[in-house]
Amino acid sequence: MNQIKVFAPATVANVSCGYDAMGFALSELGDNMVFKKTETKVVRITEIHGADLPFEADKNVAGVVAKLMLQHSEADFGLDIKIQKNFKPGSGLGSSAASAAGTAFAVNELLGSKYDHLQLTKFAMQGEVAACGSAIADNVAACIYGGFILVRSYEPLDIVPIPTPSELVATIIHPQIEIKTEDARKVVPETIPVKTAIAQWANVGGLISGLYAGDFDLIGNSLIDYVAEPQRKLLIPHFDEVKEAAIKSGALGVGISGSGPSMFALSKGMFMAKQIAEAMHAIYEKSGIDYAIYVSNISKTGARPI
Ligand code: HSE
Repeated sequence: MNQIKVFAPATVANVSCGYDAMGFALSELGDNMVFKKTETKVVRITEIHGADLPFEADKNVAGVVAKLMLQHSEADFGLDIKIQKNFKPGSGLGSSAASAAGTAFAVNELLGSKYDHLQLTKFAMQGEVAACGSAIADNVAACIYGGFILVRSYEPLDIVPIPTPSELVATIIHPQIEIKTEDARKVVPETIPVKTAIAQWANVGGLISGLYAGDFDLIGNSLIDYVAEPQRKLLIPHFDEVKEAAIKSGALGVGISGSGPSMFALSKGMFMAKQIAEAMHAIYEKSGIDYAIYVSNISKTGARPI
């Protein structure tokens, strides 16, 4: 194989209660990337569409991950990479993770599937270090594995795929303001009272149980974040109004997607998800802020060839 074109899904990290520990992949939104083997042993970013990102391989997340993998596998080829971003960096939808995980998946295919999902996640996490300074796994693991994932442990890395009811649908609103992950991480408290921790880990257990059992009430009741949301929501215009309107329209729960500014709602079935999209529109169309709304199933697969 000399060339591969891949789709790398957008992802929702944290999923309210699972800060840095949970994420899921969207089926209807993601980036397209093309990777072509070259004889030069050099990694070049030859085209970028849809975002203003660096072409220097060492400064571009895709370039960083590709170089790392070619070096690690002692590959005898280089790569030309074309990137089509279909959602914006700084959206909270795992833009850097899609570049990193899409690259990890594609390079692995070109290497003849040398590495497993866990190893690919580790490579992609180095892309996250380049993007925001932290080796976070929730977005990249969701983008590699697809579906819902739990990062059960960082040291050693342990990713647990969580079965997901097929009727679960996500509605996302992306206010077109940029919040840098690095900045949004600074407002999350470094320590929390044990009482808060108890409430938070009980909800993570509830959410995972609800996903396994297809218990939509339990999923909804567990979508509460006592750790990051109280501070981070202050960075997102109209967060409380969007949340209230979406819940009134049938959302099981609403939270911040990753580090924001995107907000996500989960609901049962496409009809409800579209009603929630209308409710979100109604809040934001009066706001004077540009925004995009997406309705998407949960992707059963992660990055894949197209
Ligand atoms: N878990 C990360 C955060 C996701 O909330 O900061 C952003 O990459």
